[in-house]
Amino acid sequence: MPGEYVTFGAKAVVDRVDDRPRIALLGPLLSFEETRALSDELSERFPGIGLIVVREQRSDLEDWVDGIEIHAVLSPEASDATSEALIDRLDGWLTASGRLPDQGLGDDEEEALDTGDPELLALLNPQFERESAPEAAEADEEVPEPEVEPEPEPLEPEWILPPIEEGIRTEVIVVAAPKGGQGKTTTAINLAAGLAEVEPNSVVLVDADVQFGDIVNALELKAPYSLADVVHAGNDEVALKALFAHHEDDFFVIAAPPSPELADSISGDALGELLKRLATMFRYVIVDTTPGLGDHTLAALEQATDGVFVTNMTVPSLRALRKEFELLVTLGLVPTNRHIVLNFVEKNTGILRKDAETILGAKIDVEIPRSTAVVVASNEGTPMIHHDVRDPAAKALRMVVQRIDPTAVPTRKRIHRKARAS
Ligand SMILES: Nc1ncnc2c1ncn2[C@@H]1O[C@H](COP(=O)(O)OP(=O)(O)O)[C@@H](O)[C@H]1O
Ligand SMILES: [Mg+2]
Repeated sequence: MPGEYVTFGAKAVVDRVDDRPRIALLGPLLSFEETRALSDELSERFPGIGLIVVREQRSDLEDWVDGIEIHAVLSPEASDATSEALIDRLDGWLTASGRLPDQGLGDDEEEALDTGDPELLALLNPQFERESAPEAAEADEEVPEPEVEPEPEPLEPEWILPPIEEGIRTEVIVVAAPKGGQGKTTTAINLAAGLAEVEPNSVVLVDADVQFGDIVNALELKAPYSLADVVHAGNDEVALKALFAHHEDDFFVIAAPPSPELADSISGDALGELLKRLATMFRYVIVDTTPGLGDHTLAALEQATDGVFVTNMTVPSLRALRKEFELLVTLGLVPTNRHIVLNFVEKNTGILRKDAETILGAKIDVEIPRSTAVVVASNEGTPMIHHDVRDPAAKALRMVVQRIDPTAVPTRKRIHRKARAS
C-alpha cells in the first residue's frame, strides 16, 4: 500500500483494501501511532486478521507489543523465504485457532517452518508463540491436521470488588480516589446537581477535602461558613442549615475550611457524626474527599451507602486504586453500592477498559472521556451536566447520576436555567 495514504488516516488506507485480507504487514516507516491506528482499523474491519509489524528490534519494541495488538515482528532485512515462512506460520495458526476460516489450500503444500532463522525475529504474541511452536516442524514427520478448537472463554480477572448482587437505598454517597486530580470533585459536583433535579433542596454536598477542598470555588459560591463551623454547631436543624451555602441548581454545599490549619479542628469522628445527622435531614448526602484513605475519608466511608471510586487511565493510578480497594476490604469498609468511574478516557493510551479492569480487580461502570468542556464548565462555575448536555463527558457524568436515580433525565428547564439567568 503506497505510503502517502497514511497521511489521510487509517480509515483512508483501509478503505483501499479490496478483498478480505488474512494477514497485513505494517511498516517499516510507520510511527507507533500510525501503526496502532492501522492495526485497530484493520482488526475492526477484518476481525481475526493477522498483523505483522515490519520493524527493527529496538528497545522500545516491548511498548509496541503492549500497546498494539500484533502477532509478530519481522525485520525489514528478512529474506523473502523468511518472510514467507512467517506469513505461512501465522496463517496456519490463525486457521487452527479458529480466528479465520480455512482457505482450503492443500495441507501438503505447506512448507516446514524454519524457526531457527536468525532473521526471523521473536514472535511476540505469547499465545501465538505457544500454540504454534512447531515441534512437528522440527521432526520430519507429517504435520497433523490442525484441530479447530473453539476460542477459549476469556478469563475473568480476579475481582477484588466483585460485581454487586443486590444494592441498598442510596443515602450517603462518598466520592474517593487514592490520588488527586482524578475527577473526584467534578464527579461529586455533578452528582449533586443531577440528584437535585429530582430532589430539589434535599441534596447536600459536603466538601470533606478538609485541607484543600475547592468546591465553593469550582461553583463560584460565597460561603461565609465552612465544615469547621458546621461540625461544632449544635443539633438545631435550622441553625445548622444557616451555615450551608446554596447553589442555584437547588442543592446545598458545606464548604471546606478556608485555611488548611482549620482542618485539624475537624476530627474523623465529628465528620462521621455530622454525616449521620445530615442523612436524616436530606434525601442525598454527597461527600467529596481528600485523596487517599485518611481519617476523614475512612470516617465518611463508614457512613456511606455508596462509594464512587474515580481513577484515570494510567497504570500508577489504577494500581493505587486497587490497593485502596484491598485495604477497604481488609478494613471491612467497602460501601454496599459501588460505582467505579474511569475518567479522562481517550483513545490510544495503550490501556483498554479490559486491561484497566484487570489491574483494578473491579468492573468499570462508567467511562468519562477527556473533554476540555469539563474545564470550561468548572471555570464558569457551572456543573458540567448543566453546561453542555451534548458533550460526551456530560453524558457520561449523567450516567453516574442515573446509576443512583434513573429518572434524572436532562430537561430543557434544568439545562437552560443558567443561560436564562445570564
Ligand atoms: N473528563 C475530564 N476531561 C477534562 N478535564 C477534566 C475531566 N475530569 C476532570 N477534569 C479536570 O481535571 C482537574 C481535576 O479534576 P477534579 O475533579 O478537581 O479532581 P480531584 O477532585 O480528584 O482532584 C479539574 O481541573 C477538572 O476540571
Ligand atoms: Mg478534589
